[in-house]
Amino acid sequence: MSRLPVFDFDDKLLHQGAEISRKLNQLRLEKFPPNAKKTLRPFPMSEVAHYLGVSPNNLKRLHLEGKGPEPQIVSGGRRLYTADQMLELRQYLDKNGRADAKKYVPHRKPGEKLQVIAVVNFKGGSGKTTTAAHLAQHLTLTGHRVLAVDLDPQASLSALYGFQPELDKNPSLYDAIRYDDGRKAIRDVILPTNFPGLDVIPANLELQEYEYDTPLAMQNSPEGKRFFTRFGTALQDVDSDYDVVVVDCPPQLGYLTLTALIASTAVLITVHPQMLDLMSMSQFLLMLGNIAQTIKNAGAEVRMDWLRYLITRYEPSDVPQVEMLGLMQSILAAEMLKTQMVKSTAISDAGLTKQTLYEVERSHFTRGTYDRAIECMDAVNFEIQGLIHQAWGRL
Ligand SMILES: Nc1ncnc2c1ncn2[C@@H]1O[C@H](COP(=O)(O)OP(=O)(O)O)[C@@H](O)[C@H]1O
Ligand SMILES: [Mg+2]
Repeated sequence: MSRLPVFDFDDKLLHQGAEISRKLNQLRLEKFPPNAKKTLRPFPMSEVAHYLGVSPNNLKRLHLEGKGPEPQIVSGGRRLYTADQMLELRQYLDKNGRADAKKYVPHRKPGEKLQVIAVVNFKGGSGKTTTAAHLAQHLTLTGHRVLAVDLDPQASLSALYGFQPELDKNPSLYDAIRYDDGRKAIRDVILPTNFPGLDVIPANLELQEYEYDTPLAMQNSPEGKRFFTRFGTALQDVDSDYDVVVVDCPPQLGYLTLTALIASTAVLITVHPQMLDLMSMSQFLLMLGNIAQTIKNAGAEVRMDWLRYLITRYEPSDVPQVEMLGLMQSILAAEMLKTQMVKSTAISDAGLTKQTLYEVERSHFTRGTYDRAIECMDAVNFEIQGLIHQAWGRL
């Protein structure tokens, strides 16, 4: 028998790490060149009607009467509207509708407070980023003014939104919550996205500094002791610019996540229905519960409008998953979203080109696959929107 060859452990890891990174980079450059700037497809009338909440016939009539924005007409007489025109349509309908009619511009009114939704779970791969990215876009398509905040130093949401943390020198929330003189106004770290009405605070590795700075600041300053107020305080400067803030949290229960949670008015916990994921989630809940108690004793006000669990990457044909879903429902019934997000290749495939379901062209997919995925995603997001409106006392 021949002996196993001797090798240098550290050399091998360094070499293999570098090689994988080089190949991935190459692949990424091919799929999404550095100078690529995201644009947004136009939306067919049926989708516009769906997100506005009007009948397609009403829209068609408006157009035939020459009212409202002028859609682009393509083969087969199909009418296409840009996302900007969708917003114009909302304004047009509100201006020309009866005073008591349904409002198409859903911006919050006096007394309705900014909704800050934290998407959390300390398990990576539980679908936080996918959920946050689609929720923020969906809220925008339904007329809300939205700020998405990427709090994960790994910057997956930023990447999905077309920012390339390795190439772009993005700002991050760190710039607005740091303890030293380098601090900037939150307005200076907000960037526009390809969706009108949706802005983003991207992420970068520097966010991680907050995890190191905070324990030091806690020893040295009153500000540090009240670290959990930093995001909420920064948000006050832009409070009137948005209706909803969606925060994609990092997969850990550190100071960033805690700071986000204390600034939040609602929490969405994403969970893949498998034994190990559920075990990890129960640990997460216990830890979070304990920490929240400690922070409350330190003077933080924790007042959530709602807490919901969202099942992600669900496969209804997988018996153990169905069982885990049943287990969750028996314990958490009232706090589970009614819709489960199913597993779909449309989501992972769209992700390969840094796109969401709302951005990809339907024609690039097998119809059934795309339609099932978007139907499910819309159902999840409309359900969450209902909770937001309920928190505003509208329903
Ligand atoms: N419903 C889904 N169907 C198929 N793939 C999904 C779905 N949701 C998420 N994914 C994929 O699973 C991976 C992890 O999801 P992600 O949202 O990044 O999780 P997290 O942010 O919790 O780490 C990603 O590659 C994503 O494209
Ligand atoms: Mg993530």
